[in-house]
Amino acid sequence: MKKEFKRYLVTSALPYANGPVHIGHLAGVYVPSDIYVRYLRQRGQDVISVCGSDEHGVPITIKARKEGVTPQDIVDKYHNIIKSSFERLGMSFDIYSRTTSPTHAKTASDFFRTLYDKGEFSEATSQQYYDEEAQTFLADRYITGTCPKCGNDRAYGDQCEKCGSTLNATDLIDPKSAVSGSKPVMRDTKHWYLPLDKHEQMLREWILEGHKEWKSNVYGQCKSWLDGGLQPRAVSRDLDWGIPVPVEGAEGKVLYVWFDAPIGYISATKDLTPDWEKYWKSEDTKMVHFIGKDNIVFHCIVFPSMLKAHGGYILPENVPANEFLNLEGDKISTSRNWAVWLHEYLDEFPGKEDVLRYVLCANAPETKDNDFTWKDFQARNNNELVAILGNFVNRALVLTQKYYDGVVPAAGELTDYDRETLAEMPRIRKALEENIEGYRFREALKEAMNLARLGNKYLADTEPWKVVKTDPERVKTILNIALQITAELSIAIEPFMPFSAAKIIKMLNIEKLDWERLGEPQVIEAGHVIGKAELLFEKIEDSVVEAQIAKLQATKAANEAAEKTAEPQKAECSFDDFQKMDIRVSTILAAEKVAKTKKLLKLTVDTGIDTREIVSGIAEHFTPEELVGRQVMVLVNLAPRELKGTLSRGMVLMAEDADGKLVLLSPDKEVKSGSIVG
Ligand code: MF3
Ligand code: ZN
Repeated sequence: MKKEFKRYLVTSALPYANGPVHIGHLAGVYVPSDIYVRYLRQRGQDVISVCGSDEHGVPITIKARKEGVTPQDIVDKYHNIIKSSFERLGMSFDIYSRTTSPTHAKTASDFFRTLYDKGEFSEATSQQYYDEEAQTFLADRYITGTCPKCGNDRAYGDQCEKCGSTLNATDLIDPKSAVSGSKPVMRDTKHWYLPLDKHEQMLREWILEGHKEWKSNVYGQCKSWLDGGLQPRAVSRDLDWGIPVPVEGAEGKVLYVWFDAPIGYISATKDLTPDWEKYWKSEDTKMVHFIGKDNIVFHCIVFPSMLKAHGGYILPENVPANEFLNLEGDKISTSRNWAVWLHEYLDEFPGKEDVLRYVLCANAPETKDNDFTWKDFQARNNNELVAILGNFVNRALVLTQKYYDGVVPAAGELTDYDRETLAEMPRIRKALEENIEGYRFREALKEAMNLARLGNKYLADTEPWKVVKTDPERVKTILNIALQITAELSIAIEPFMPFSAAKIIKMLNIEKLDWERLGEPQVIEAGHVIGKAELLFEKIEDSVVEAQIAKLQATKAANEAAEKTAEPQKAECSFDDFQKMDIRVSTILAAEKVAKTKKLLKLTVDTGIDTREIVSGIAEHFTPEELVGRQVMVLVNLAPRELKGTLSRGMVLMAEDADGKLVLLSPDKEVKSGSIVG
């Protein structure tokens, strides 16, 4: 049986305040959530929509350090950009809060303390990298070193951006602290853990048994987490930016950002209304989390476990997470500036908020990753918004002005076709409701556009501009019906395109209509005087989208140039320094793999001075066969070194190309072994 709810609590993932919001965030989270809450409000439901900035976490401290400012400066800057760009896009949050607010500090701290006092945490000591010079523990991101997989010497402790591998800080070869540059040491540190394993049974029953209706991408991800077995998760960190762990002896430790951030939904509700408990603690409330797919585990596994462990809180009824939106075929990336930023769009396309909302909803990555392209943006604007929606509304209004001076004519007798047309409206309403309530916003948007299509087809079929010459009475009925459809459009498109809905209402000179009027045959009365007709949408020219594409191409070129940048030149060396090196053309006589190693080859070379052995780390780049007979450059007076049982005397010189592949340096034509290079 379908559960009945008295009220709704809708949350939208708190965006990180370490950068502005882009179209990927919008299509995945914010546009769908705004459609949902606007719809519920139109239906007169008791609904609150909460959001805010997520202002803790390591990336914010790294950005601050890089820019030489405080973390607070960073979050202030981006909180303001995000908040105002959301407002400009028509996001209708009831509150847009932030996790550096005093309410949040207290709420999150108390929440932790309650779990601590109830014995819901386990404690464990582990070893973590520590920077002795800066006297601080180091988050994985704060350690750099050489990637064990690809040799990139600028890999981070959590990830190598060159080969994409996920790493542990302890995997790095030659680790360095990004804070002081010194070599970090291992030190014991104590942390608090949420034993997710203890909640596994509850989660299995609640999700796998109780919520089979969740989107398959969400249900599937939860199932694979649960089937893989849950582990305790650390909920504290050694960091100086965040909410202090409210326990004695926890100096220098803060709540893990993923512990405090979802509590931000609660703090935001508290800041919104003293009645916040009604939304968080009553089984009559339907809570829905709008998020992107990378947030699923936190909202379906971790946060529910926290809420259960605390007690008294409800769990979400649904978590309609979306997949990702790509941009022109490539993954959106904040660090690579591969994005369409909301605040820039709003500046560059004034008055076109609804166009972006429309295109992002029409392309929302609901079941799989999707792509945003500027050509598609233009096509959807020109062929759908202008040609269908804008065109219909404009014709209905302009014809009424022209034939009846803007007075809504009374309908006469209806034909079968009129009745069929009117009968479509309740059908569209039902489809809209089912799709919005089922979180299928793309389908819902199509249905709203079907109402405009219906109107367009009706005018094209009834041709009032011709009939006016032969049967003027009939035209009154036609335009009456066209105006009804126009008024109903103002209801149907409002969740998706609130600015355009408001324009239609203004042009019709009516009050905003409730959802319940959608599908009624007469929502605007004969005799009512409408306002002036204006265009709802305008064509977007090729030059406009070409400029946007050029902007992206410039970003791509800049990224590629940055990657190609050569290593900086080393410190100066004197002629004497150089003269110390004895480099000779030598010939490789034999080559074999060194047993039990992956990288080493033992080479026998004729240096012209003698025949000697050199062990070289090139086995992954050359087979022994392709080396024999080759002439190469050898640094012959390098101090000998014992390697895997062989005394290696000298070094074979190589060049490394952009992807890390080694290339031999050979003389242009064969010369005598022992020839001096200099
Ligand atoms: N800041 C996170 C992200 O952008 C989302 C946090 S959602 C919350 O991925 F629940 F933790 F608030
Ligand atoms: Zn790597």
